[in-house]
Amino acid sequence: MSPIHDASAHPADDPQAALDRELSEQYDAFQALSEAQGAGSAYFNWGYRTRRGQSYAETQERLVEAVFTAAAPAPGDILVDVGFGSGEQDFFAARHYSFARLHGFNISRRQVEHATRRAAELGLHERLVFHHQPAERMQALADASVDRMVAIECAPHFDRPRFYKEAARVLRPGGRLVLADIAFAGWTGDLPLRGDEKLRRMGNFDHNRAEWEVYFHTRELRNINRETVPGCLRSVWHVLRGLPRIQQSSHRRHWLGLALTSQIMGTGLLLRFIRYDLIVLERR
Ligand SMILES: C[S@@+](CC[C@H](N)C(=O)[O-])C[C@H]1O[C@@H](n2cnc3c(N)ncnc32)[C@H](O)[C@@H]1O
Repeated sequence: MSPIHDASAHPADDPQAALDRELSEQYDAFQALSEAQGAGSAYFNWGYRTRRGQSYAETQERLVEAVFTAAAPAPGDILVDVGFGSGEQDFFAARHYSFARLHGFNISRRQVEHATRRAAELGLHERLVFHHQPAERMQALADASVDRMVAIECAPHFDRPRFYKEAARVLRPGGRLVLADIAFAGWTGDLPLRGDEKLRRMGNFDHNRAEWEVYFHTRELRNINRETVPGCLRSVWHVLRGLPRIQQSSHRRHWLGLALTSQIMGTGLLLRFIRYDLIVLERR
């Protein structure tokens, strides 16, 4: 596996490099906790509720389904999944959609190792290939070699200008990028951009859109605040319930941080200063 921190993009003391390190450590910890807890959902998203009474795990799978359905892969297609979590969404995709091969990219080494192991166990290792490389620098891929790309609840972690440019490099003209994406509402102006690196990456929706439209046509834009808020708030309890079983103090810190983030995000989605959208883009 190649080194994950791209020294040519950010010097080691740069806030961007520090945040990338924090995120990879955080998702390594979440993956370790999810493996230790065994049963339950292997997804790391807030879910998309399509009917009342759905379990949290089911809403999480509905989000994955909505994204892959919007991507509409064809049998010979090469797909990319950036920020694939445990890889569960790609095992789902392999069961329900036809495509030639899917390349996953993730900054969490533990998630890459887990997904690679599971793909082998499931006999899917030729169709699903996982790389420990960031979405902003997919070194494993040649220019214009990809038909479809999905990014489920992970673009707010990305250095967006670099990600949009990299996605445009690897997608062929007419290729599609589908995001389940979270950002500050346009009316919040440049407030998020004046915050710390985490807030800046989440970005202001209008600003993000201006950046992706340099490379992509916006083909569909569906606001899904209403469908995602229940899972987001539910995840706070889900996380807090797991807390007593966590021994390692660094893991407890990440777990508590996740509960707090979900609570703030849930409030933001309800009050609509944060927006959650399903976005379908086409490479120009
Ligand atoms: C909120 S989780 C979503 C996981 C998964 N898509 C799902 O819906 O269950 C965010 C994922 O993005 C990954 N990630 C964060 N920053 C990344 C980057 N720069 N490049 C690739 N993956 C990244 C994390 O390791 C994690 O797997």
